[in-house]
This record gives sequence, structure tokens and C-alpha cells, in this order.
Amino acid sequence: MPPKAKAPSFGSQDYWDQRFTTNTAPFDWLSAPEALDPVITEALGSIDDAAPEILHIGCGSSLLSQHLKTHVRRAQQVHNVDYSRVVIEAEELREMMSMNGNVVACTRWSAVDLLDYTSLIGACDLSKYSVVIDKSTSDAISCAEDVLCSLPYAVSSKQRESTDRMVEVELKEIPVHPLELMAVHLALVTKPGARWLSLSYTSERYTFLEGEPTKTEEDGTGNTGIPDPRLLWTVVEDPHTTFHP
Ligand SMILES: C[S@@+](CC[C@H](N)C(=O)[O-])C[C@H]1O[C@@H](n2cnc3c(N)ncnc32)[C@H](O)[C@@H]1O
Repeated sequence: MPPKAKAPSFGSQDYWDQRFTTNTAPFDWLSAPEALDPVITEALGSIDDAAPEILHIGCGSSLLSQHLKTHVRRAQQVHNVDYSRVVIEAEELREMMSMNGNVVACTRWSAVDLLDYTSLIGACDLSKYSVVIDKSTSDAISCAEDVLCSLPYAVSSKQRESTDRMVEVELKEIPVHPLELMAVHLALVTKPGARWLSLSYTSERYTFLEGEPTKTEEDGTGNTGIPDPRLLWTVVEDPHTTFHP
């Protein structure tokens, strides 16, 4: 019997590194870059920010990274991130060559693992971005394994009041769904009122944002020890669009 075809490992960095090494041409998942124009224009028009910073997560080799420049005054307002250094270096070089080395005309590029908050805040300033663009990146992230997080988790939705509480808490690890963890991490680098615009295969992606948030401890963590993403993001209007209060 022939061996079963294995489903691609969309949640594995090795898969993406290998794919971007062998497929070097630009490729857009789900839609052409222009398809997001109406929601991007609406989001940028609804926020009170004269020079909004856009965080394009899991940019891959999408042409959207360049198209986003049409929505801002300065190319540097667009920050493209992906955990595959292969694609970040290739796309940064492609842009630099097309702009004849004019750095000011180029967007920013960083290799960032969205499931590792130290990686994210190593490249992205806290509370900086007004709009997050996610074209099928949540789909890939949803395929990743749960992430083992040590408690007390270093990221909380409120300032911890004293270090005393931290030594009282039992040290342990819990598995956290990758998309929930990314939602918590994205709240670190977005401004209050920012929009997370997500185009996904399925409207079921964000069911973890439904319902009432769990009761929180004084440091903002829920009973799991990880901030409840429902305290940070609210789904609005279209199921593909989320809103940061
Ligand atoms: C389905 S592709 C979408 C690419 C691009 N946004 C598009 O529309 O064509 C998913 C992308 O997410 C990236 N990705 C997956 N997990 C990631 C993670 N933990 N941190 C950063 N990027 C990730 C992959 O490298 C890949 O480029």
C-alpha cells in the first residue's frame, strides 16, 4: 500500500523555512493584497493616529508587505515580521533592490516568533502599533502545538503590585493554545484601541474570544495564570476583525 500523504506542518518553523528556501517567488495566501484595502482603510480612518504604525504579522512572501505602503505616508510605518529568517532576509533584500537601496523608501523587516514574547518585544516596541494585519497567519499558528508556559507568566494584563506575590505562586508549566498566546502577546505591542485585522480560512478561529472573561486575580491573570485574551481583545462586526478596547 502506498504511504499516506502527510498533511503539511503549517505550525512548524522548519516547514516554513524549507518552503521559503525552495519557493522564492512571492506568494499570497487566501487573497490578493488589494482585497484587504476596504478594511484597512476603514481601520486607519477610525483610529485617532496621524502616523499609525502597522504590524504585518506572518508576512511570508506576500505582496501585501509592499502594498501596505499605499496606506501610509512613510514606508517605515510598515513593520513586516515572520519567524522564518529565510523569508525575512529574502524579502528585505528584494525590496531594497527594487528601491535601489533607498532605505527610507523601504518598510521594516524583523524575524520574530509571535509565540515567544521575548522575541516579539526584542523587535517591536511596547504599545506602538495601531493596526495589526494578519492574512492567514492565525491559520498557521493554530496548527502549532500548545505552548508550555511557565507560571507565573511574565506577561499579565495589569501591573503586578509587588514581587511578594510572585514568590508565593507555585512554579509550574501549563499548555496554552498558540492562538490565545499570540493574542496576549500582540496586546503588549499594540496601542489601546488598536485593530487586529484578520483574514482567515474560517470564522471559527476566534471562539476563544467569545463569552465573558474569567474572574481575574489582582495582577490581571485568569484562573489559569495566563491573561484572559477576552480582557484584551473583542471581536467586532465582521468575524474576521478584532478590536482592542
Ligand atoms: C499561511 S502563511 C501566510 C503568509 C502571508 N501572510 C500571506 O498572506 O501570504 C503563514 C505565515 O505565518 C508565519 N508564521 C507561522 N507561525 C509563526 C510564528 N509563530 N511567528 C511568526 N510567524 C509565523 C509563517 O512563516 C508564514 O509565513
